[in-house]
Amino acid sequence: MSSSSSLELNKIVGAVLVAGIVAMVCGTLAGMLVKPHHAEHEAVAAGEGGGGAAKPAGPAPIEPVSGLLANADPAKGQEVAKKCLTCHTFGKGEPAKVGPNLYGIVGNKHGHMEGFSYSTAISSIDKPWGYEEINHFITNPRAYAPGTKMSFAGLPKVEDRANVIAYLRTLSDNPVPLPTQDEIDAANKAYEDAKAAAAAPPPSSSSAAPVASTTQEAAAPADDSAQVVGMIASADPAKGQDIAKKCAVCHSFGNGEKAKVGPNLYGIVGNMHAHMEGFSYSDAMKNTPGTWDYAALAHYLLNPKAAIPGNKMAFAGLKKPEDRAAVIAYLRTLSDNPVPLP
Ligand code: HEC
Ligand code: HEC
Repeated sequence: MSSSSSLELNKIVGAVLVAGIVAMVCGTLAGMLVKPHHAEHEAVAAGEGGGGAAKPAGPAPIEPVSGLLANADPAKGQEVAKKCLTCHTFGKGEPAKVGPNLYGIVGNKHGHMEGFSYSTAISSIDKPWGYEEINHFITNPRAYAPGTKMSFAGLPKVEDRANVIAYLRTLSDNPVPLPTQDEIDAANKAYEDAKAAAAAPPPSSSSAAPVASTTQEAAAPADDSAQVVGMIASADPAKGQDIAKKCAVCHSFGNGEKAKVGPNLYGIVGNMHAHMEGFSYSDAMKNTPGTWDYAALAHYLLNPKAAIPGNKMAFAGLKKPEDRAAVIAYLRTLSDNPVPLP
């Protein structure tokens, strides 16, 4: 008995082991197959809707244009794009107006026009203007790039956007290819995911906040800069001074005072980035063009690391819009000649 039953036992143990190994291998394989996919969707989703800006009150997921472009009508797009002509030129080599020249914009980098003074909201986005990026931007410029200088309400109709983007694509010596089927599928999937996420009750308020902070999109998480700018005029500088005690560990505020760990902040509002002569700024701060206008400050003080990746201000940020508005109202007073309120 013992020999045959131990043989049976061996078989069973063997079978269980094999099953275990098969399961492990399958699991690993499945993981390998699924993971990159997952990451991809997350990346796309993070790119969606300007970094998940405020799901609760949030803008609806944006319908993708990728699948519409092949049949879109550039001539109609040119017609719609007359709305852009107030601020943009489209011809090769034409000068900027209020906005940059847009020849060759599709596939180009954010802030592509040499010499144009972009907001940091745009210039700090480190990726190309793909079809869906342009789509999101022209649907709702401020949601895509909070703090952008493009004051344009957006084009709500997806057909209009597809036509305009099809037109923009023709503005090139060498138009970039239309989206591939894979790209179309990915864009549609991202849209479906975003819709599903929007339909589901928010799991917790934190989900709308800077979840994406590990990605480049961190520049835009739940950004309420526009709201903050709107609050500055009625904010209390005295309160701001109180909150700014947190900054005083590293910053001095008086006219002509010396730098500490951070630069002196007298006259910072409206000044350029890295304004203090002789202070040893990070390359990130020196090389990020722009001025500390209200929107830039509101954006930076929300999450300094995300706003200007690589800058050396080790400060977590002021999450409450009221706090930022008050601090900025206080900073504004630190000047011989305070800049006008927003
Ligand atoms: C009221 C003026 C105004 C209107 C109207 C306007 N724009 Fe803009 N646009 C701007 C400004 C200003 C910028 C620079 C934004 C910044 O630096 O934040 C800009 C930037 C852009 C950019 C990014 C360019 C780059 O180099 O990164 C694109 C793309 C763009 N606009 C497309 C459009 C399209 C398409 C329309 C019409 C549907 C339009 N804009 C309408 C003012 C405008
Ligand atoms: C732990 C130290 C620290 C704290 C706290 C801190 N900062 Fe900073 N801050 C810095 C450093 C360092 C820099 C320079 C960053 C660089 O060069 O990358 C800086 C830069 C800045 C700049 C850009 C200045 C310029 O010339 O471009 C502003 C604006 C600013 N801080 C505002 C604030 C405010 C407002 C607070 C409080 C709410 C604050 N900081 C808290 C260390 C700090």
